Amino acid sequence: MSLVDLFLRLDRAGPGDAESLRWALGVAGTPADARVLDAGCGTGADTGTLLAAVPGGTVTALDAAAEFVASVATTYPAVTAIQGDMADPPAGPWDLIWSAGAVYTIGVRRALEAWRGVLAPGGRVAFSDLRWTMATPPEEAAAFWQAEGVTLTDAAGLEAEVRAAGWRVLGARWVGRAGWTRYYDPLEAVLADEPDSELARALKAEIALWKRWGDSYDYRLLVVEPA
Ligand SMILES: C[S@@+](CC[C@H](N)C(=O)[O-])C[C@H]1O[C@@H](n2cnc3c(N)ncnc32)[C@H](O)[C@@H]1O
Repeated sequence: MSLVDLFLRLDRAGPGDAESLRWALGVAGTPADARVLDAGCGTGADTGTLLAAVPGGTVTALDAAAEFVASVATTYPAVTAIQGDMADPPAGPWDLIWSAGAVYTIGVRRALEAWRGVLAPGGRVAFSDLRWTMATPPEEAAAFWQAEGVTLTDAAGLEAEVRAAGWRVLGARWVGRAGWTRYYDPLEAVLADEPDSELARALKAEIALWKRWGDSYDYRLLVVEPA
């Protein structure tokens, strides 16, 4: 089974939950009539929560994977689902750009540069990105993420990247363990039914790593605005 087919069976493709998203909406001060872009929406992990938060507004879901876009469009007819590149986002303007666990695909700096011009006046960006929670991470965790091609800094490093890109941090927190179990529990259940494959082994290894060393890394959730 391909990665896309596997994740089409799940409603999350990364750690996160409604509680942490609602926190971000509160910090961003997103009004009920906001125009929201979900950049890298996946299979619609956050679509329902976003729709509930802006009953008088709009939610546009953007993803590079056509299958995910089609799935979101079917599950949430109230959403405008678009296949595209978050580095070249729809013009908006957007009162909030939300991006859960997807910014790493193009990099924080590039994302913030691409999004500045499509924000409405007073618009904000909220995104989550994987970071170390401690100064000296365990060797096994460091080697795992290095092998995945993911270079992690700590929370201060992320905020420094944001400021260097010309943005101000309005609020920051960790997604926390509840967001990881919200992602990994259903993923583990799907993997239990999967025949052994390179993909299944890789995902099981990632989950096993989190069970051993999950205290050393987490998704940092930031709410930011142009400085
Ligand atoms: C880790 S998943 C997170 C999905 C979703 N936000 C969630 O939390 O479940 C990253 C998503 O970003 C999408 N993606 C990767 N590169 C992208 C790009 N350049 N533009 C838009 N979407 C992209 C992938 O197809 C995938 O759905």
